[in-house]
Parts: sequence; C-alpha cells; structure tokens
Amino acid sequence: MSIDWDELTARAIEAMEQAYCPYSRFPVGAAGLTADGRIVSGSNVENASYGCGLCAECSMVSDLVRTGGGRLVAVACVDSSRTPVAPCGRCRQVIYEHGGDDCVVLMPAGLMPMSKVLPGAFGPDDLDRSTLPAPPTRG
Ligand code: THU
Repeated sequence: MSIDWDELTARAIEAMEQAYCPYSRFPVGAAGLTADGRIVSGSNVENASYGCGLCAECSMVSDLVRTGGGRLVAVACVDSSRTPVAPCGRCRQVIYEHGGDDCVVLMPAGLMPMSKVLPGAFGPDDLDRSTLPAPPTRG
C-alpha cells in the first residue's frame, strides 16, 4: 500500500492547529492511515488537572475506533514547528495496540516501523499467556 506522507502530515498539521493546550503551549497533532484507506486524526486536549490531559495520539485512536476501527498502517505526529515529533512512551503503546509491529511512524529521524519505535512491546497476544481462568463476562 502506498502511503502519501505529505497528505498524512498535512492532516496532522490541521489537527495540531485545533489542539487545546493552554497549560503547556505545546500543540500536537496526530494523523493515522488505516488499512482500508481512511485518515483519522486527533490533537492534544489538556486539563486544569494537568495529569488528566490527553495526548494527540490518544485522540487519534479515539477517532479510529469511533469511525469504524481497523488497523493503523502509518502515523504522523507534528508539533507547532509543523515537523515530526516523537510519540511519548504511553502513546507508543496506544499506537501499538492498533497498528502492531508493522505500522510505520514518521519519527524526527525518519520513517520507522513500530517494531523499532517500541521494541519488545507487550500487546494483546501476551494476554493469552495467562494461566488464570478468563474473567466473568458482564451483561
Ligand atoms: N503530547 C502529545 O500530545 N503527544 C506526545 O506524544 C507527546 C506530548 C502533548 C501532551 C501535552 O499536552 C503536551 O504535548 C506537552 O507535553
């Protein structure tokens, strides 16, 4: 699948311009391409209770799930300089859940697969190794 990085970066910039970041003054935008060709995006949304702030990548994944889910194949994140910013550690985990090892991220140093962005990641498959019975289902 060919990836239009210019388009993805443009969508990340658009999202960055909608950020709510009165506390850090550090707007971030994230855009992701899905396996079925959609582009999803998000921006950081901060809070007076600082620890409650949401990163742009988390907002992007919310957009992904809300608009039909699927796999992320490419992700670009930018800051106010309109250039790539590295996803924080928590966001790498959030991207990994929906993109796995093969999702390609536009890092400040260039394109990098998630297998390098988050080496040795813990993921959904690891949960299968539990030796305890499955939790009861609700509803
Ligand atoms: N931020 C993101 O949105 N994504 C990242 O991966 C790095 C940090 C946000 C969180 C906070 O609103 C601001 O950038 C400064 O840390």
